[in-house]
Amino acid sequence: MQIEKTVAGVKAQVREWKKEGLSVGFVPTMGYLHEGHKSLIDRAVQENDRVVVSVFVNPIQFGPTEDLESYPRDLNADSILCEKAGAALVFAPEVSEMYADNFTTFVDTSGVTEELCGKSRPIHFRGVCTVVNKLFNIVTPDKAYFGEKDAQQLAVIRRMVRDLNMNVTVVGCPIIREEDGLAKSSRNTYLSAEERQAALVLSKAVFAGKAMIADGETDGDKVLDAMKQIISAEPMARIDYVEMVKWDTIEVHHKVDCPVLVAMAVYIGKTRLIDNFIQE
Ligand code: PAJ
Repeated sequence: MQIEKTVAGVKAQVREWKKEGLSVGFVPTMGYLHEGHKSLIDRAVQENDRVVVSVFVNPIQFGPTEDLESYPRDLNADSILCEKAGAALVFAPEVSEMYADNFTTFVDTSGVTEELCGKSRPIHFRGVCTVVNKLFNIVTPDKAYFGEKDAQQLAVIRRMVRDLNMNVTVVGCPIIREEDGLAKSSRNTYLSAEERQAALVLSKAVFAGKAMIADGETDGDKVLDAMKQIISAEPMARIDYVEMVKWDTIEVHHKVDCPVLVAMAVYIGKTRLIDNFIQE
């Protein structure tokens, strides 16, 4: 497996593959890879001749008070995971390779970015769309893989790809969880043992909401109230949002009469965690 630090290096390799008629799958990540990322790489390896994984902590998607500096990094471990999973190339650029000093061009997807995480992280999705657009231009993948763990991100990327006629098929992949239910996340490493236990209220609320809908509940307010109660019972938890939106447009919608996304962001101590379920 190849590890590339430069844009030119990736472009040259992909050009070779394309000359040979090979298909290219792409998994963009910020590294500190776990089973959730691995599930995306596994799927990409199954569906493509060559797989590129990018490992890049993208500074422009972090707000000024967020965890850019402390975000966990371990390129060595990430490379081993990628190689074992069958990736052909890891793209791990420095910030200066991705952003020239006078970088001034951004991709801004509106509407789908207004609710949920877009509310509490106002510049986040502009940073995500910009870097994913750049990465797509560098890797030119046939298919790109995103987790439903970041469901709004998946909806935003789908919208961007549709609106800008990008030549890539976006593939959504299910959330991978720890045995006790906690959604796997690089940010789980921030949690103390006590916080790790408290963090279970997110998945508990997800499972409870899902069960209510499976039992026939269609009133979004009732589902959200029950979920909020579960989270509020944990003293270490502070709700950022618990919300129901239409799955395609990410508009607030409190009725289960179309595909909905029920999503939450909850602080456990200082760590902001997200979880969700999609009701198709
Ligand atoms: P990161 O948080 O590293 O996640 C990379 C991909 O892995 C995302 O598509 C995310 O949804 C998926 N993922 C993370 N945890 C998962 C889990 N438990 N189950 C399934 N999939 C999971 O998302 C980003 O990076 C960045 O915003 C990025 C798209 C790379 C742009 O910088």
